[in-house]
Amino acid sequence: MNYNKKTKDSILYLESNARTYSRSIDKIITKGKLARVYDSSGNEYFDCLSCAGALALGHNNPIIQEKVIDFLKSDQLQQALDIMTPARINFIEQLYQILPASFAKHAKIQFCSPSGSDGVEAALKLFKIVTGRSSIFVFQGAYHGMTMGSLSMMGNLLPKQSIHGYTSDVHFLPFPYTYRNPFGVDTYDIEKISLNYLENLLTDPESGLTKPAMVLVETIQGEGGCIPASKEWLRGLREITERYDVPLVLDEIQCGCGRSGNMFAYEYSGIVPDAIILSKAIGGGYPLTVMLYHDKYDSWLPGSHTGTFRGNQIALVSGTATLAYLSQPSILENINKIGLLLKQKLQILQGKFDCIGEVRGQGLMIGVELIKPGIKENPLGHPANNKELAKSLKLACLENGLILETGGRNKSVIRFLPPLIITESDVNEIIYRFESALSKIWKN
Ligand SMILES: Cc1ncc(COP(=O)(O)O)c(C=O)c1O
Repeated sequence: MNYNKKTKDSILYLESNARTYSRSIDKIITKGKLARVYDSSGNEYFDCLSCAGALALGHNNPIIQEKVIDFLKSDQLQQALDIMTPARINFIEQLYQILPASFAKHAKIQFCSPSGSDGVEAALKLFKIVTGRSSIFVFQGAYHGMTMGSLSMMGNLLPKQSIHGYTSDVHFLPFPYTYRNPFGVDTYDIEKISLNYLENLLTDPESGLTKPAMVLVETIQGEGGCIPASKEWLRGLREITERYDVPLVLDEIQCGCGRSGNMFAYEYSGIVPDAIILSKAIGGGYPLTVMLYHDKYDSWLPGSHTGTFRGNQIALVSGTATLAYLSQPSILENINKIGLLLKQKLQILQGKFDCIGEVRGQGLMIGVELIKPGIKENPLGHPANNKELAKSLKLACLENGLILETGGRNKSVIRFLPPLIITESDVNEIIYRFESALSKIWKN
């Protein structure tokens, strides 16, 4: 394909100043196959971003491609609002087969508009309607989306600047981020403190906050820096929310559908949430978002959450193929095995490079937090984040043929979100490209 830099720059000039990824990936990407993409000059890159986790099976995976091509040729409806079609029936059947039985037996499904943010909007509306309550509890560091309601519930202050009229009555609680302990104390169990804090809010008649319509949480914080909630903490959160009759809603938009090594990330805790929001991988790379919730909450009225492109038919087809593939037991096993290998190899690098403060994550959702060794950034004793290094490392990795993204506090966490199909030799390739980029720009 004959695209040159001049063409790209003149088109890029037309794009909004709010654009993001194309600022660091300053290339024309012309082709992608599984975990690799190619630019217009033929350079190859290993893609550890996978469209922010949406491409669970990588680019143009034949498993999906063939199903989509057959569907396009079949003269079935390409768009159908929420009318029943074979694609919709197959998708729902497939999804309910892989949902944990304890949740599936009472689960209702709401198809949302295609973005994850709209699934979060749906939860916001549903739980306000059914509880009649106005306040919402969320967690610091959370990323729930960019529409006004979901943005109101996000931790990152940058996109919130100079915007007024947020959804009111949203309250942020400290997330048990052990590496940057929000309570600034070493000697106590921060998960326990975080849960006690919530329990106190829900019981103190002078807490200042009314009982919330929902507690919304990412099982593994993604954009916030790849921070898993422990199973003990999730269980504690479930117990407290149940005790005080508060719906617990899990945002598994990024960590769901196999990414964590379980089909749904919360499964390792054994809890049963009141609702789950799924997007990204659920559509097999095409836009699709659903909210699943306990049928006891299904009292909103017909038309309470509509939208033209809910349940996009191509996404239903590709999503069904993706979920069927991921539901094979050996696939989740492999995600756990390969994810652990990647994490262990990154931990070895942590021993070599003192700028790596922590390596964490589950399955193939791994974060490497970069710090300025020996420097504390605040009286709480948090290590100074190294956003400058994270930015240069991301660019150096790109030059080495490795696409990565940054996230976390001040974007100082390098995030690995490769397609879920990568192999041991891919891990070696990723580590090789990552280490050689880091050793070029960092000396202990
Ligand atoms: C956990 C989580 N929730 C919500 C969203 C918003 O999804 P979208 O960007 O599709 O609106 C994202 C996007 O990255 C996410 O990671």
